[in-house]
Amino acid sequence: MYDFDAMPTRAGSDSVKWAGLGEDVIPMWVADMDFKSPQPILDAVMERAAHPYWGYPIGLDKLTEVVIGHYERTYGAHIEPEWIVWVPSVIPGVVNALKMMGGTFMYSTPMYDHIRRLDSEANLPVIEVPLKKDENNQFSMDIEALEAAVTPQVTALILCNPHNPVGRMYTEEELLALQAFCKKHDILIVSDEIHCEIALDRKHIPYFSLNEEAKNYSVTVSSAGKICNIPGLPTGFAIIPDPKVRKKFIREQDGLQACSNALTLAAYNKAYDGSCDGWKDALRAYLSENRDIAEARFAQIPELKNPHNEGTYLLWLDCTGLGVEDAAKFFEEEAKVKVCAGVIYGDPTCVRFNYGCPRAQLVEALDRMEAAIKKLRESK
Ligand SMILES: Cc1ncc(COP(=O)(O)O)c(C=O)c1O
Repeated sequence: MYDFDAMPTRAGSDSVKWAGLGEDVIPMWVADMDFKSPQPILDAVMERAAHPYWGYPIGLDKLTEVVIGHYERTYGAHIEPEWIVWVPSVIPGVVNALKMMGGTFMYSTPMYDHIRRLDSEANLPVIEVPLKKDENNQFSMDIEALEAAVTPQVTALILCNPHNPVGRMYTEEELLALQAFCKKHDILIVSDEIHCEIALDRKHIPYFSLNEEAKNYSVTVSSAGKICNIPGLPTGFAIIPDPKVRKKFIREQDGLQACSNALTLAAYNKAYDGSCDGWKDALRAYLSENRDIAEARFAQIPELKNPHNEGTYLLWLDCTGLGVEDAAKFFEEEAKVKVCAGVIYGDPTCVRFNYGCPRAQLVEALDRMEAAIKKLRESK
């Protein structure tokens, strides 16, 4: 019914991921997927685009209700309309939360590279604390390390759940432990949940819905950018149940509120009104198979190690065993596969591999990486 196997034809779409690549290089890097967006979204956008009038649109109130319905249906999580504050996209929402707090902020590394640049973008000091890694390369929140690193100046902690780039989906127990740590030190949790619907192994827990206490001191930011593959139609929303926190957030945002873009409104109504639920389920099934194929292949290569990916379509690969200085450069030059260099996430020994693509593209990339590693092994 849904054709995720169709090879992409992204020429002419001004794609960051596909532009400027060397000849014959397969892009497995930037975090978007090589699948068409779901048909109900394409139809709604085309219908709106065909209309010749482009005056100021209304629609955020209606869209807010649609998002509320989605959270109720998907997570059984209740949201009051006033809790939702629209933001230009997820990162500006996170930045706004940090700015309103004004102190030092913390997060666990490796971390999504844009979040790692927020100290300079928000002009605030940051404390980076490594995640804990077990013998199976699985990452978890290191509360002891957070305790050791925290200072009285820390006012906010960014939680990335599911976590880009390590693919963790935090359990209720882990979220409760993090909540206890933040409560003890009076720290606001800013939860970036942009990947929340790419939940492959377990149900995502929206942070604000964890318990009553979570509602009191948190900002949860999300969008449909990842699940529906529409980051080119940017918007996002912050869910802020507490009126005092929300007031502060809105005051900080003054003058920079999200504007209603008519095409984005058309797309987002379809993204959240249930029209795409069948597509989303089929996508998750397809991505799970891609993930299993990639993990099985990487398990055969002794030079590579990876944590099991629970969510996101981003696989974190420890390439220490290759013994090369720059693994991303090695894969681009020797395998003609472009991945993201781990250094931007805080670990130069790793790369991030995006498996959100048709199976044939994935298998070709895996074949090429394996062949390049075999050649490297034989040359030693
Ligand atoms: C964890 C995370 N947050 C935010 C973003 C970007 O959000 P936006 O484009 O809505 O600002 C990304 C994109 O890859 C991401 O992975």
